[in-house]
Amino acid sequence: MSEQANITLGSKSLEMPVKHGSIGPDVVDIRKLYGQTGAFTFDPGFTSTASCESAITYIDGDEGVLLHRGYPIQQLAEDSSFMEVAYLLTEGELPSKDELAKFEHTISRHTMVHEQLMQFFRGFRRDAHPMAIMCGVVGALSAFYHDSTDIDDPKQRMIASHRLIAKMPTIAAMAYKYSIGQPFIYPDNSLSYTGNFLRMTFGVPAEEYVVNPIVERAMDRIFILHADHEQNASTSTVRLAGSSGANPFACMAAGIACLWGPAHGGANEAALEMLREIGRPERIPEYIARAKNKDDPFRLMGFGHRVYKNYDPRATVMQKTVRELFKELKVTDPVFEVALQLEEMALNDSYFIEKKLFPNVDFYSGIVLSAVGFPTSMFTALFALARTVGWVAQWNEMIGDPEQKIGRPRQLYTGAPQRDYVPIAKR
Ligand code: ACO
Repeated sequence: MSEQANITLGSKSLEMPVKHGSIGPDVVDIRKLYGQTGAFTFDPGFTSTASCESAITYIDGDEGVLLHRGYPIQQLAEDSSFMEVAYLLTEGELPSKDELAKFEHTISRHTMVHEQLMQFFRGFRRDAHPMAIMCGVVGALSAFYHDSTDIDDPKQRMIASHRLIAKMPTIAAMAYKYSIGQPFIYPDNSLSYTGNFLRMTFGVPAEEYVVNPIVERAMDRIFILHADHEQNASTSTVRLAGSSGANPFACMAAGIACLWGPAHGGANEAALEMLREIGRPERIPEYIARAKNKDDPFRLMGFGHRVYKNYDPRATVMQKTVRELFKELKVTDPVFEVALQLEEMALNDSYFIEKKLFPNVDFYSGIVLSAVGFPTSMFTALFALARTVGWVAQWNEMIGDPEQKIGRPRQLYTGAPQRDYVPIAKR
């Protein structure tokens, strides 16, 4: 007999099936709980709730493990490419040489955006945050691609997914160009996905842009590290928006909006700003003391994670990438020394040890992005570019799931009980 979990509520009791994943914790299937007992579960922040079944990404937060379709992130970051990881996440298996070439070709054929879309940029103030522009412009794509919005057709879903993966670098680069008043650069499909993005961002029409392979590799690795992360806040937002059958481009705009927050993707921007503000190793104890002070809302940005209660494996790769990039480009940044010493001090401090707070992916990513030449305001836009792969993979998986339902949580109501309306003259 399959395993059951029992719950007794007053005079009612219920046996609920326990489901087992391929790895990871079991889940108690509580779907019949309300119908049979009249009670809901209460789990704000979803700390104990699995919202779906998924075969894409697995995280063991206690052990610091991250697998995409079973493959460890360290191996993918070291030996794979972002396009290969995009194929893996969206298709489920690593591609053969021919499959990868075909996939890259398909993506490269969708890199341009409609000329009319360019006019959207001009409506934004020059100093608009790139994430504000990304939210608006990616949402606006929904008005352009009516031939790929029948979400019940897997082929159309795949076309929409390819369009999104392909156009995000173009849109992110355009957001940057617009902010600095330079002309938009059209994509060059002879370059790699990442090389093309670098050219659209840093190239100018007046000069030939030569992609630096060291920078290209570092950026490709950053994209791999950000490609997917299970049911994080922005991915859950995309799933929830998509669960109503909403347009895929609009769903991605919802994901971008969620990612922007400093507790999520916005932390990479906040982490580098914090490290710059600290400025010198002598000032680190002051900031550690602030982070520990309950009366001070300050937190160490780039530290802590809802799931990882161990070192975020992506942070390890990111730290290595900083070292390699600095060595190969023969550059340095005093902020890296501050980051290394801050990490060491925090990891030896009882507050951080007891609360299991370790550096997350955002702690070092800003240092790489800054060395490449991106302003901090672009950091989260780059995260959105890479995470689009995870969003489309998770969105496709959800729409294809026969058990999929509109997402509709319940609540514990704490407001006024029913009462009669009082006319204003009598209040
Ligand atoms: N600095 C200082 N204290 C912290 C930090 C931090 N960075 N993170 C958590 N804590 C403390 C909290 O104050 C809390 O203490 P308490 O138990 O005494 O109240 C305890 O650790 C647990 O923290 P929660 O906020 O309850 O944990 P939660 O899982 O909700 O939050 C989060 C995770 C949002 C990532 C949090 O650690 C944080 O704000 N970190 C800084 C922002 C950041 O780096 N975000 C990036 C996340 S990774 C990503 O999105 C790619």
